[in-house]
Amino acid sequence: MTGILALDQGTTSTKALLWHDGVLIPVGQRSHRQIHPRAGWVEHDPLELLRHIGELEEISSAIGGGPCGAAGLANQGETVVAWDTGTGRPLHNAIVWQDQRTADAVAKLHAEGVETLTLERAGLPLDPYFSAAKLRWLLDHAEGARHLLACGRLRLGTSDAFFLDNLAGVCATDVTTASRTSLMNLGTLQWDPDLCAAFGVPMQCLPEIRATADAFGSLPGGTPILVNAVDQQAALFGHGCVQPGDLKITFGTGAFALGLAETRPEGGRADGLLPTCAWQLRGQPARYALDGGILTAGAAVEWLGGIGLLEDYAALDGFTGPSALERGLAFVPALAGLGCPHWDRKARGAWLGLSLTTGAGDMRRAVLEGIAFRAAELARAMQTRGGGLRRIAIDGGLSRSGFFCRFLASAIGSPVEVAASPDVTAIGIIHLALAASGSTVRPGSGTSRQIDPNVLPDGLHERYAEAVALVRGWG
Ligand code: G3P
Repeated sequence: MTGILALDQGTTSTKALLWHDGVLIPVGQRSHRQIHPRAGWVEHDPLELLRHIGELEEISSAIGGGPCGAAGLANQGETVVAWDTGTGRPLHNAIVWQDQRTADAVAKLHAEGVETLTLERAGLPLDPYFSAAKLRWLLDHAEGARHLLACGRLRLGTSDAFFLDNLAGVCATDVTTASRTSLMNLGTLQWDPDLCAAFGVPMQCLPEIRATADAFGSLPGGTPILVNAVDQQAALFGHGCVQPGDLKITFGTGAFALGLAETRPEGGRADGLLPTCAWQLRGQPARYALDGGILTAGAAVEWLGGIGLLEDYAALDGFTGPSALERGLAFVPALAGLGCPHWDRKARGAWLGLSLTTGAGDMRRAVLEGIAFRAAELARAMQTRGGGLRRIAIDGGLSRSGFFCRFLASAIGSPVEVAASPDVTAIGIIHLALAASGSTVRPGSGTSRQIDPNVLPDGLHERYAEAVALVRGWG
């Protein structure tokens, strides 16, 4: 295989990395607009994302002197698009995974008892996060959708299927992405007619589900697309988490934990962990993981900047003395509700324990500690369900704060491995392409740092759990 191009189409930007002649070459990065038509609504322009993918492919061809041996695409997960397959044109902006416009529709489905079905078949609770209700919204609101449905030209799918249909003429998704929609049966790895009927999503409009490492046609420049995956699952592989009990947590906009499982985990358990597909190589059985997402992590830090409490990222390090929580100050980062294991969209963020002596530095520190305590909740749930964790690997923006990493290790009570590279997702795509080709070579991502825990005083986890309980159901 000559050269592998990894395209990482994420929530805030599209990045590309080229594995060429044994060297990892950064190709480029393009940020895109975050469109907020109303409070709680988050959209992207699908054509802007498509243009960025095309530009990065062209740069990589210039670097590599022509098409690569393989390309792979990582996507945002639950983000959806409606488009006309005759023209490739989107009918509406993409509705992003963070978007909450379907909250009322989801509450109605909840009242009708649909969650029993989603938990049993898809392994997922009812929540606006997942794609299904967003796809139904597009069918009801995107201009021309019903007409195109009648003509047999309407496509409804996750963003990857839109890109692949436009770039390669292949309307397909993969098992990892489909497992985030709430429409795929986790046992059969196919669209489930009852789930599609419950959400009112016409099954004939959905893309075909393929393995993660499979044939997805070719990019316009001629490079065959051989991998397609959710960015989180690609990062799991990129961290080398291939044994049951390996856990990775990516601290991006949210914090997304995936723990590799031995067999397909059960859904609907009180621990709030969600079974999901980890990857599937063509012709091989799928591997599964438990998913635990915190909806706001890096976004809480961005927000601190937005409200004037953080001017310089250097102010996220260098804290000394007892933790903010030991001094009575807690922060719950439920700025978009609480994700796993609580799944409470009405919860709201809060500092608890403010006093006349609280300073901005204490408030910043409490935010970092709060994100770490929430991640520790997830790790503990994973540990309890899986009977122990073999390793914990982390990446993402917050993993660049030494203070955060040390506090996280202490809150979890285990060493954490911090990835050296900021491109674990793209590296995972390259590793998946190599694994599918039977190659045992894996480009290194630099030496990860191991951070050992300190012992936290007794009772801090319980105190933090009290803070979380206080913000539940607030909004
Ligand atoms: O579930 C959403 C998640 O996959 C998005 O990740 O890196 O694009 O913010 P990221």
